[in-house]
Amino acid sequence: MTFYELVKRNRSYRGFDQQRRISREELEELVDCARITPSAANRQPLRYDLVWEPAETAGVQSLTKWAAALPERHLPDPGKEAAAFIVILQETEWVQNAASCQIDVGIAAQTLLLAAVEKGLGGLMIGNFNREGLTELRGYPEHLVPQLVIALGKPAEKIELTEVPSDGSTKYYRDEQDIHYVPKRGLKDVIWEREP
Ligand SMILES: Cc1cc2nc3c(=O)[nH]c(=O)nc-3n(C[C@H](O)[C@H](O)[C@H](O)COP(=O)(O)O)c2cc1C
Repeated sequence: MTFYELVKRNRSYRGFDQQRRISREELEELVDCARITPSAANRQPLRYDLVWEPAETAGVQSLTKWAAALPERHLPDPGKEAAAFIVILQETEWVQNAASCQIDVGIAAQTLLLAAVEKGLGGLMIGNFNREGLTELRGYPEHLVPQLVIALGKPAEKIELTEVPSDGSTKYYRDEQDIHYVPKRGLKDVIWEREP
């Protein structure tokens, strides 16, 4: 698989094959990739909570909101929940300023997901989650602040990238077969050219 194919396959999946469980060791391999990525001033403010036991994933799942743009779908469908989660935490004993670690969070999240796709898995970044509820459920001490939740599993969804339509909408949508379409801006649209 070329790097472009890897990036293209790394979509936001919101339905997973429950038969494929994910072990703690597999999650550790993903975090091992994330921990060697760039970090502002090399402060490395992040820690990772690994959730893979079915009894524990259900609790995390219930505190996350998927596909807010498709409220009628109530994703994930029952039986297609994530097999595992990685919660990216800010260790405030290392770095206090939340804003300064946001880019690190993004780099770590994308790296985790690319590593997952390389293993035949896939996932979803989730910023829309119940922070207080997750902190209580997982027992995070005050110095650990959850910043982003990553859902993981073997994808059980078909996703297609499409062009942004003429009305400019970037909203994702599904058809009758439940194929998920994600409009992406074209190369010419995203490269800024100076006026001649
Ligand atoms: C920082 C961040 C937070 C996100 N939070 C959520 C979320 O809470 N729930 C969700 O269903 N999708 C979430 N997404 C996924 C986006 O909706 C998704 O990236 C977008 O629809 C484009 O699809 P693609 O990732 O397949 O390109 C998030 C993505 C990013 C980058």
